[in-house]
Amino acid sequence: MKSKSLVSIDQCSKEDILRILTNAQSFEENPNRKVLEGKIAATLFFEPSTRTRLSFETAINRLGGKVVGFSDASTSSSSKGETLKDTILMVSNYADIIIMRHHLEGAARYASEITDVPIVNAGDGANQHPSQTLLDLYSIQKTQGKLDNLTITMVGDLKYGRTVHSLIVGMSHFNPTFHFIAPDELRMPDEQKHFCDKRGIPYYEHTDFTEEIINQTDILYMTRVQRERFTDMEEYERVKNVYILRNEMLENSRDNLRILHPLPRVNEIAYDVDDNPKAYYIQQARNGLFTREAIICEVLGIDN
Ligand code: CP
Repeated sequence: MKSKSLVSIDQCSKEDILRILTNAQSFEENPNRKVLEGKIAATLFFEPSTRTRLSFETAINRLGGKVVGFSDASTSSSSKGETLKDTILMVSNYADIIIMRHHLEGAARYASEITDVPIVNAGDGANQHPSQTLLDLYSIQKTQGKLDNLTITMVGDLKYGRTVHSLIVGMSHFNPTFHFIAPDELRMPDEQKHFCDKRGIPYYEHTDFTEEIINQTDILYMTRVQRERFTDMEEYERVKNVYILRNEMLENSRDNLRILHPLPRVNEIAYDVDDNPKAYYIQQARNGLFTREAIICEVLGIDN
């Protein structure tokens, strides 16, 4: 990568992505390596998280580093009015790498512009979630044996879902075909569709979640309706349960189909799907550990 921070997946060339995935594979084979001994990582989570924060912190521990930080911004001095700039400058005095999640789009990029300490974006509003994209790509490669020429169907909240926005960019190197399934209120934004248009990537928009589409899909990427991004709660109530994947809908799906979800799920995947061998979202989250070990080494320039 040209920058030592990872704030957006579009910083990663195809070669960068493939190198990180190869290193993630190597960390899956041997996750415990003391390459971060003497290093301190700060995890600053201004928004809630289970998987991202805990897998990053597990990664740092497995690599022999130490973690400082907060998982609840109300316990930090930002609750007293300290600005993001001052928070980042303070933490830069203490840590060798900063992993941050923030509700404001562009917060991680801003942080990377005011400090020399590498920043990893762990999610900024509805904008980007690049480490999720890399673990998604790792999961896709692992389950499909390749990244090229796949049909990917994204379902749910395509407006606010930062993981789908990042995944479109990450997959753009690999000749994908996309289906976007969303209610009108939560359609894929024009920015992402223009991106596909510019790169000649085919995409098809639907409002109905049908077996016909599932049956031509290699990766079914389910998403949660992002309640925290709505300003109108009546609108959220109208769309929150619009699509629910049920086991019987998978009866005639391709053998290689795998179901991904960045999680957490609310209602969008029925629990009977969990026992279907095509359900992959729990392993997908596990892959986050290996991918994040590779990302930390990449931004710190550590050979592994
Ligand atoms: N996928 C994801 O970002 O999960 P968390 O919100 O639990 O970190």
